Amino acid sequence: MALINPSILSADFARLADEAQAVKGADWLHVDVMDNHFVPNLTLGVPVVESLSKATDTPLDLHLMIEDPDRWAPQYIEAGAGSVTFHVEAAAAPVRLAREIRAKGARASMALKPATPIEPYEDLLPELDMVLIMTVEPGFGGQAFLDIMLPKIRRTRELISRHGLQLGLQVDGGVSAATIERCADAGADVFVAGSAVYGADDPAKAVRDLREQAET
Ligand code: DX5
Ligand code: ZN
Repeated sequence: MALINPSILSADFARLADEAQAVKGADWLHVDVMDNHFVPNLTLGVPVVESLSKATDTPLDLHLMIEDPDRWAPQYIEAGAGSVTFHVEAAAAPVRLAREIRAKGARASMALKPATPIEPYEDLLPELDMVLIMTVEPGFGGQAFLDIMLPKIRRTRELISRHGLQLGLQVDGGVSAATIERCADAGADVFVAGSAVYGADDPAKAVRDLREQAET
């Protein structure tokens, strides 16, 4: 089954509750937290996540593109996040962090920037619910999909299977009608789409169409 997680980075930040409503039928709402240190852009923090979680029934999929996720992740769970993705490049103690996220009742996920290989982190897989393979350099919506990431998606799916695990494999960046099938073929099953959903005339239909494409 394919999960479609619209990224509110491409939504109107002054109307977040309405924008969450506009993608009814989405599996999760993807929330990009950026701190202008880990990535060269700044978005939103704990208070906005807290308000958004009260304004929508769709569970929140937090993508922390921040330094020191070890310190911040618990606060985002208290604010209402159902899933927390930290960048392994930024985590001081990824195993401890993943365990803490799960102990607090959220799903734990590890993200890899395009230049970060999966192999050194193979032993972490049993501690996780999902792996996020970035298919653009993190920081901005609307960038072109990096198809040189497809082999890494495939290798990650193979490692997950070899360990007998049931992890989600998320792709984020440039996912659209033109690229989603290649991601699904490579083994991805959780798809973040920002501009492809919020740039569409009918965002809810864009979600349905992407899901159908990913599942064929
Ligand atoms: C980029 C963010 C993405 C972004 C994707 O750093 O992590 O979630 O919103 O936007 P699109 O789908 O437009 O590439
Ligand atoms: Zn993201």
